[in-house]
Amino acid sequence: MKDGQKTLYSAVQPTNNLTIGNYIGAIKNWVSLQDDYNCYFAIANMHAITVRQNPAELRQKTLSLLALYIACGVDPEKCVLYVQSHVPEHAELCWVLNTFTYVGEMERMTQFKDKSARHADNINMGLMDYPVLMAADILLYQADIVPVGLDQRQHLEISRDIAQRFNNVYTPTFTVPEGLYMKVGAKINDLLNPDKKMSKSAENPNGSIFLSDDKDTVIRKFKRAVTDSGSEIKYDPENKPGVSNLLSIYSVFTGKTVAEAEKDFTGKGYGDFKLAVGEAVADKLVPLQAEQAKLLADKEYLNGVLLSGAETAHKTAARTLSKVYKKIGFYQI
Ligand code: TRP
Repeated sequence: MKDGQKTLYSAVQPTNNLTIGNYIGAIKNWVSLQDDYNCYFAIANMHAITVRQNPAELRQKTLSLLALYIACGVDPEKCVLYVQSHVPEHAELCWVLNTFTYVGEMERMTQFKDKSARHADNINMGLMDYPVLMAADILLYQADIVPVGLDQRQHLEISRDIAQRFNNVYTPTFTVPEGLYMKVGAKINDLLNPDKKMSKSAENPNGSIFLSDDKDTVIRKFKRAVTDSGSEIKYDPENKPGVSNLLSIYSVFTGKTVAEAEKDFTGKGYGDFKLAVGEAVADKLVPLQAEQAKLLADKEYLNGVLLSGAETAHKTAARTLSKVYKKIGFYQI
């Protein structure tokens, strides 16, 4: 870490398989930001348990997400990579921040309402408290910048509100974080419903490309992707959402502009086009998966990364928590 650099914080839950949308919208961007910021990237396992998890799978997915971060180019020498539950200050600050958060505002959160509908048999307090834990994550590290998807905007806004509220009651304590909403390539849509965002929890998994999909699966899914009426391969999201989505994916995965992508396919049919997009994606995923598998075979190395990440994270987090405890009047020894 370098002095004078701003602090950047983000996290991903180690739950469902990530899609190429998560890769393009999040992890790939982190790689380009890691030289310019003091970066903390967490594996949010405490958020994950707000929905019931299989314990063995949760453990396994924690390591596999870490291996994925590193395989994608997130460098543990430059960034702090750690597991949320390894740093107890997250839960501790969350408790304090709960007393600065109103029940009404949590009940109004869009994601809480969505998840309550989807998990009606388990609307637990943790699900409702999810945004406050996220605020604690961010505020503990005095993060200036938080790159997230647009679906997290409301959570980021509430983090800012909570920080400002606390700062106003006492004296400035928390940095008020700015959201960094990724634009370029951030919008990858479902292959079967190109009007909807590609999601890790879509009803039909054939509409999503997971980072863990093997080459045959990737090609098969792209072959089945919906295209549009007509036969022209041109970028026109309004009238040709399917073709346009495939063109964006191709452009992101080959590094070509959309205009160059269109040129590659002038005079070609949809069949060739879909195959080419599938191959472009598989060409990136196959080496990524090989690297991830190689890293996963070296558990000692991964544990070392997590141990040193947790130590560094804990140092920063403890400093913030101690300030907070002092301000609110907790007697400290
Ligand atoms: N809620 C985020 C998501 O599901 C993950 C997350 C947890 C996060 N804590 C965070 C993201 C702090 C940014 C900052 O995508």
